[in-house]
Amino acid sequence: MDLALKLEITSTIPLHRQLYDELRQAILSGRLVSGQRMPSTRSLAKTLGISRATVLFSYDQLLSEGYLSTVPASGTFVACQLPNELLRSTTAPPISSTFPPCIELSSYGATLATVELPPAPGQKPLINFGCYGRPAFDEFPIHLWRRLLSRACRLSNTILDYPADPLGYKPLREAIACYLTQSRAVRCEPEQVIIVNGSQQALDLIARLFLNQGDRVVMENPGYFEARYIFQAQGAEVLPIPVDRSGLIVEKLSTLTIPVKLVYVTPSHQFPTGAALSLSRRLALLAWAQQTGAMILEDDYDSEFRYDERPIPALQGLTSSDSVIYIGTFSKVLFPSLRMGYLVVPPQLVPVVARAKWLVDRQSPLLEQHALTDFINEGHLESHIRRMRILYAERRRTLVQALNQYLGNQVTIIGENAGMNAMVQFHIQLSDEEMSDRAEQRGVELISACSCYMNAEDGKGMFLLGCTDLDSEVIQEGVRRLAEILNAAEP
Ligand SMILES: Cc1ncc(COP(=O)(O)O)c(C=O)c1O
Repeated sequence: MDLALKLEITSTIPLHRQLYDELRQAILSGRLVSGQRMPSTRSLAKTLGISRATVLFSYDQLLSEGYLSTVPASGTFVACQLPNELLRSTTAPPISSTFPPCIELSSYGATLATVELPPAPGQKPLINFGCYGRPAFDEFPIHLWRRLLSRACRLSNTILDYPADPLGYKPLREAIACYLTQSRAVRCEPEQVIIVNGSQQALDLIARLFLNQGDRVVMENPGYFEARYIFQAQGAEVLPIPVDRSGLIVEKLSTLTIPVKLVYVTPSHQFPTGAALSLSRRLALLAWAQQTGAMILEDDYDSEFRYDERPIPALQGLTSSDSVIYIGTFSKVLFPSLRMGYLVVPPQLVPVVARAKWLVDRQSPLLEQHALTDFINEGHLESHIRRMRILYAERRRTLVQALNQYLGNQVTIIGENAGMNAMVQFHIQLSDEEMSDRAEQRGVELISACSCYMNAEDGKGMFLLGCTDLDSEVIQEGVRRLAEILNAAEP
């Protein structure tokens, strides 16, 4: 019997593995049919010029996976019960472009078609203004972090077990409560702090818990598109409210005639414009929420980075009512791949959030929670933030100076002296795509702010420039190259 088996003696793949793959493929493609007798191990070894042990090894594997079966005193056969559909698929079926091929997506799944995934990692231009909100990785005390992680690894091996508490590691929750009370004027007890995998998970959990199809969520416009995707994926209707230099225009809320379930805001540093919500608007927002029964979601993602003055205290701390859920993250003050954030929720919501978190992923990774607890309690968080505040202030100043120097009135810088990025408007006839393409040709990555707008057209000419991960010289050179584009495009 010629089985047309191809084995490569010189390959790094072991012979028994090659033989197994070849035989399996022969069965799946129908070259070896159900019930067909297999050659004896001795004769196949002889035909192929390999050892009998190699053939035995491959047969054993195929027997244990059900491709072959043995009949005592008779021999080895291709199994009879292989499903027909499997038997003729020589290659994996192509992924259908009209997904799903046979099963309908849930309404949640269907809404995800509009979600923009980040571009696949590739060669990035040298000067990457697109890295908005990215901390200065070179400045992170990685040796210290490594030491704290390895300290956590030396703890009892129960650290490897399923965590006992979905709310998170208690000492970390205590450390965060203490930090928030002192630095952000948040009113909270450690019991209200829930550790999550970044703000994104916090938003997802809250959206699942509160939103039904058709519920309304108010969002700043422009606003944080990743939050918008989450609300829309739950079937919520997003009501955009414009922002100005003082943040969300709260007066507009009173024009809404329909009930609102949630209001998502970034009051300390509005994303993406950088405006800070004024005190009078904060108080008006809290009063409106109490009056209407809406819940406020306060996303305090990069409030630590205010450069002219002290950070603005959190909205949550201004009210004694339970109308605010506070969300924080370590993605900006430390590094985003840590995937560590937290929620502060009113006490009565703790049990339901705990259950939701348990169902989603049990608990956030414990080793990192231990390391982070030590990082905070030993004072490293505060000193790192202090250092980064000085560095980021300098880089932002460089960016603003370079924009003014090279672009003058061809650019408007939006927002306050705060945060990790600047939103700018280029006064130019080019489309955003042309502008980004020309920048890329000059080795500069530029990201349009269009996706932040409910109607992308409204964001035309707006760009987000990240600078916290770029040296001053790189920032200046990047802006100089942008100026070349704008000057070349002058009518
Ligand atoms: C408005 C806003 N919130 C939160 C985050 C951080 O998200 P995460 O904690 O999931 O990394 C970002 C990141 O860019 C952001 O822009």
